[in-house]
Amino acid sequence: MSHKEHKRDVFSSKFGIVAAAAGSAIGLGNIWRFPYLTGENGGAAFLFIYLFFVLALGVPVMLSEFIIGRKSQANFFGAFRKLAPGSGWPIIGIMGVAAAFMILAFYSVVSGWTLEYIVAAAGNYFADKSSEEIKVFYDTATGQSWRPIFFMLAFMAITAFIVKAGVQNGIEKACKMMMPLLFVIVLVLIGKSLSLEGASKGLKFLFQPDFSKVEGSTILNALGQAFFSLSLGMGAMATYGSYINKNESLGQSAIYTSLADTFFAVLVGLAIFPAVFAFGIEPSEGPGLVFVIFPGIFNQMVGGYFFAVIFFVLLAITALTSTISLLEVVVLYFVEELKMKRTVATWVAAGSISALGVLCAINSSIFGFFDSTSSNILLPMGGLLTVIFVGWVLGKTVVRNELEEDGRPAFYFRIFIPVIRFLAPLAIAIVFLNSIGLLKF
Ligand code: PHE
Repeated sequence: MSHKEHKRDVFSSKFGIVAAAAGSAIGLGNIWRFPYLTGENGGAAFLFIYLFFVLALGVPVMLSEFIIGRKSQANFFGAFRKLAPGSGWPIIGIMGVAAAFMILAFYSVVSGWTLEYIVAAAGNYFADKSSEEIKVFYDTATGQSWRPIFFMLAFMAITAFIVKAGVQNGIEKACKMMMPLLFVIVLVLIGKSLSLEGASKGLKFLFQPDFSKVEGSTILNALGQAFFSLSLGMGAMATYGSYINKNESLGQSAIYTSLADTFFAVLVGLAIFPAVFAFGIEPSEGPGLVFVIFPGIFNQMVGGYFFAVIFFVLLAITALTSTISLLEVVVLYFVEELKMKRTVATWVAAGSISALGVLCAINSSIFGFFDSTSSNILLPMGGLLTVIFVGWVLGKTVVRNELEEDGRPAFYFRIFIPVIRFLAPLAIAIVFLNSIGLLKF
């Protein structure tokens, strides 16, 4: 099939779009990364800065990505080539594909841990274990051995099988089924967590801000997390945007997706912090927080065995809907730009990313380097260039057409243009330059 004949997949409904986009957004970033960043960055102060970034910057950047994707009907690199031929802009596309490589490399390692935890929970391994013993399990499961590598590869293989099958039949179906279920389970966990003695300290930590704890790095971490959690700045949303039907509202899709992701992050915080304080654990525990605390919570629950298994299955599935979106960025690039068949593209992408994944699994500094470089540098830079592109290069007419609802520009069109032309680029640039030390104020 030549490039022109290549028939593009389309999401089948609005619910399908939001389920898939929220499936990409909701993931380990909410359940694993958000709680430990909140813990390490002083609790509520971090949460409020994060919420501000989601609304003021996250939503406009997501909408910009949707516009780029749907207008171009192409992968993230091809999009810039089509929309700005002969310019340097496609470099953003290359950056995006590179970021997808790096994120998926370390993300699939953590996703692999979730598989290992499913096996352990299903074998009733955590029953009657003390928090010290659970910590030992965590250290072994994530330490330098064949185990994290094996489970990472298994997870990547599952991801590849789904991506290979296409957009509508893979991601869309899985997300539609799993997303609502996930909310229900988190609510059950919140109920249990809040009933523990000492839970109120956790609520205070999550909702009572102490702005004296805020440093430059807190702000950069909040910005990085907003981009990471909403899957922004590297073309995942642009890629999904290219599958959105012409008559769907992009604004609604962006708002619903961002709200679902943010609401879910807060719910997870509510499930985790009361328990963290009730167990007398330091909230700044770090990346292991969720994998050490949760098994402990289940031990306190009637029916804990059942909930532990279901929770880790669902944790794995939210991770899966995110890894699919990451792999899809690379696969669509391979299919459309390198003219590979979808199956070949999927295995080449999954294989080469797995090689990097192995490095992340055995070396925690490489892991940390990929994690912080992608979220704190590549994603904000990608987001910055994306809004500049949509605001200044794509032009008002194109944007107006994409934001049309019932034949008229949507009501937010007037605010959107100044936001992406001035406010968003300026805010992202200032936070970013200040945090990497190039600008002091
Ligand atoms: N948003 C996902 C999460 O929160 C991670 C992700 C980042 C997915 C970038 C795709 C692209 O877990």
